[in-house]
Amino acid sequence: MSPSPDAEAVATAVRDFYERHPYPRPVEELRPDAESEAERLEEYHLLWPSRAFREERSILVAGCGTAQAARHALRWPRARVVGIDVSEASIAHARALKEKHGLANLELRRLPVEEAGRLGETFDQIVCTGVLHHLPDPDAGLRALREALAPQGRMLLMVYAPYGRAGIYLLQEYGRLIGIEATTAGIRDLASALRLLPAGHPLWPLLRNSPDFRYDAGLADALLHPRDRPYSVPQFLAFAARNRLLFSRWRRQAPYLPHCGAPRGTPHYARLAQLGPETQYAAMELYRGTMLRHSAVLCRDDDHSGGRKIDFAGDDWLDAVPLRVVDSVCIEEKLPPGKAGVLLNRSHTDTDIYLPIDAGQKRFVEAIDGRRTARSLAVHLRPQSSIRDFVEQLWRHDQILLRMKEADPVSRAQPG
Ligand SMILES: C[S@@+](CC[C@H](N)C(=O)[O-])C[C@H]1O[C@@H](n2cnc3c(N)ncnc32)[C@H](O)[C@@H]1O
Repeated sequence: MSPSPDAEAVATAVRDFYERHPYPRPVEELRPDAESEAERLEEYHLLWPSRAFREERSILVAGCGTAQAARHALRWPRARVVGIDVSEASIAHARALKEKHGLANLELRRLPVEEAGRLGETFDQIVCTGVLHHLPDPDAGLRALREALAPQGRMLLMVYAPYGRAGIYLLQEYGRLIGIEATTAGIRDLASALRLLPAGHPLWPLLRNSPDFRYDAGLADALLHPRDRPYSVPQFLAFAARNRLLFSRWRRQAPYLPHCGAPRGTPHYARLAQLGPETQYAAMELYRGTMLRHSAVLCRDDDHSGGRKIDFAGDDWLDAVPLRVVDSVCIEEKLPPGKAGVLLNRSHTDTDIYLPIDAGQKRFVEAIDGRRTARSLAVHLRPQSSIRDFVEQLWRHDQILLRMKEADPVSRAQPG
């Protein structure tokens, strides 16, 4: 079916926008990750908790912008990375990075996500962040990506969320009402107006905290975008399901779980804990009110192993190897009585999400080495503490990933 004239107009406006304002702000060089080995393990097992680590695989970065595909190619030198984008300006920046870093494993194409099928292959991993909410028909984009996903492949999908971005949508509407355009003068005047924005406006927390508001293209991307359609949790889950994708997990799950942070202390906790996971996620989005985006791992709907949750009711997790996530830190100051540390995840923006631990639990965490199983680490815990509860808490709080024993013949098959 060919796109309607309206859809074509939106697609053209979005493409023109990114020709003028390539995103993110172009850089001339990428810094190799200091912690890349740990980050690579984490990235891999977030996607494939039950599969042995391997570097060789194919990765599609869909709507790659100026740097994301090059970053993947640098981080995964033995993977074959394909970056596609509609913006020639973005592809040109990505190409310059490819040359600068000699990334022979990176292929770049100017191609809409909706036409990913024209690549003529399927990919073990698809990364699509910050793109589909800008499409005239996001379902057409996700459908095309689903078709391009290999049978046991994994997709990391990020789209905007509505409630935390309420201030952005107010300003977008304000801009439309008075006819602000994403020209140099339009952006300059908008930046001046934002400096005078009355205290208490819902945009203020973002203005203070988001690096995107500190440069023109970022400001335009947030406030003057021709097309921006957010997804609430139920909308996100329905979006995945109707495009034949199963939800595996949130990239960072603690904010979506009533077991973590403030919700646990509310009189509603017992009620929240009874709900099914999807209702819990939806309730947490409403209770927290600040989520800006949803970022999740998805797999094909015919790959049931990929959508299966880690089950703490059984015993498989005991033979899993905990991997401490790179953003986990242990604070040792101003501790609650009887505690030896407080675990935080530096990437969480919700300050109520932290996990106080006793001395035995701290020894357990410090002994995590990427080889020992949860069962063998349990010797560090005090006799009265429950290993099941503790490992589940670490996992829920995004302190660890669990590398499961290679579970079933399907997930043991190598990608590609
Ligand atoms: C906000 S940027 C995100 C870039 C990158 N994914 C990242 O996270 O850094 C959105 C990108 O999607 C691209 N884009 C928009 N519509 C597209 C489409 N239909 N097909 C492919 N790329 C598209 C834009 O050109 C832009 O580079």
